[in-house]
Amino acid sequence: MDEVLAFIDEHRDRFVADLVRWVRIPSVSSDPARAADVRASAEHLEAHLRSAGADRVEIWQTRGHPAVFAEWLGAPSTAPTLLVYGHHDVQPVDPLNLWLSPPFEATVRDNRLFGRGVVDDKGQVYVHAKAIESFIATVGRPPIRLKMIVEGEEEIGSAHLDGLLRDHAVDLASDFVCVSDTAMFGRGIPSLCIGLRGLAYLEVYVEGPSVDLHSGSFGGGVLNPVNALAKMIASLHDDDGRVAVRGFYDHVRPLSAGEREMIARLPFDEAEWLASTGSPMVAGEKGYSTLERIWARPTLDCSGISGGFQGEGAKTIIPSRASAKIGCRLVPDQEPEDIVNSVREHLLRVAPPGVRVRVEYRHGGRPYLAPTDHPVYEVAKRAFSKAFGKPTAFIREGGSIPFVRTIADATGKPCLLMGFGQPDENSHAPNEWLDLENYHLGIKSAAYLYDEIARMAPDQAPPTAASSQPLESE
Ligand code: BES
Ligand code: MN
Ligand code: MN
Repeated sequence: MDEVLAFIDEHRDRFVADLVRWVRIPSVSSDPARAADVRASAEHLEAHLRSAGADRVEIWQTRGHPAVFAEWLGAPSTAPTLLVYGHHDVQPVDPLNLWLSPPFEATVRDNRLFGRGVVDDKGQVYVHAKAIESFIATVGRPPIRLKMIVEGEEEIGSAHLDGLLRDHAVDLASDFVCVSDTAMFGRGIPSLCIGLRGLAYLEVYVEGPSVDLHSGSFGGGVLNPVNALAKMIASLHDDDGRVAVRGFYDHVRPLSAGEREMIARLPFDEAEWLASTGSPMVAGEKGYSTLERIWARPTLDCSGISGGFQGEGAKTIIPSRASAKIGCRLVPDQEPEDIVNSVREHLLRVAPPGVRVRVEYRHGGRPYLAPTDHPVYEVAKRAFSKAFGKPTAFIREGGSIPFVRTIADATGKPCLLMGFGQPDENSHAPNEWLDLENYHLGIKSAAYLYDEIARMAPDQAPPTAASSQPLESE
């Protein structure tokens, strides 16, 4: 390991420069005009992983954006196999005027790298690529067998992921999975994420008159779709901050006393957290702490609403239509389709007569809770702590990564969520940044992780016979 760690130290700046080059490609998956850039991002990664010594690198085409697959199988066939997942697509950059430096020209300020995708998730993919490269360049091969899948559609709901996992079940077989796409609990605190929320995303459309009407000539005579939608949205919560949709909480696994204790023990500074949001006060479901609310309780939030006149000044109309985008964060054992059906039923039931209402399911992902009694979590804790020189915390996160539950269900293998972001990293927002110390120590953490997994007792890390078995297909 000494040689590997020394190599990581020596190439610290070059590893940043490599990342800057990849960030230059604007792989915004939600923007159809950027499809060629998402493709270019996949090709850039393909070439880069090949130069990092991968035995096999492929672009996996989908009906949407392409994924990249690579493997390094130089370790003995008795060594465990780790599958690393990440995504190379990024979020849109608007509002552009709030960026202090151009989003695709990554810039260092205060030992932070600013740019779109630096932490979500290109930088975290490179953490692994650079750790692997460091083994190849020094000792010739990583101590375990490694595979990597880097998706191009994570930020838009991973629509083609199930297909990829099914078609490439044999290629993706592994003993353990590692995803680096989350944040650490705080500055310098190595944190293994043991739970993610799921997501159910839908749109509701409310239609009234066939065209916008003069509100003087027609107002008072027909129902206003914007008024109707506002009332419908308001009915989605009760006064205690609970979601008022019938059946919404039916399959929610309550927090155990032990889980609540674990969460309460973390050094959470609520005032600082609140200040980072800019909101005037904390708010949410009655009876739960802020961390419980964002990590382990389901939510329903309107992410956008439109309808009627949006221009400068006043226009006196009864709008013809209105719509809203609604996202529900889910916890075990809620299912995205069930939740969308419940919300649809609610919206149709409360819709006033006089408008036509339609609800469409957009995309979803299931929640994840890690099997922390598996020995690989202690192994990962140890690796993380070695790199950062601090004890590793178990945390949960409120965000969603559909791949995690999908791969866990398909393979039954434990998934390590080893993230190197920061809670205030501005992901999805202007001025997204990556702490360059985290990038550097992250590369070392990944190197230690591979090393520690290689030393696991054979009965804890199943030998190749098991790892070469294809994924179970549903
Ligand atoms: N990296 C995030 C997931 C994440 C966010 C983990 C916050 C931990 C904390 C990921 O890229 C993401 O943004 N996911 C989407 C998923 C959705 C589009 C299915 C999300 O959570 O909104
Ligand atoms: Mn991400
Ligand atoms: Mn994201």
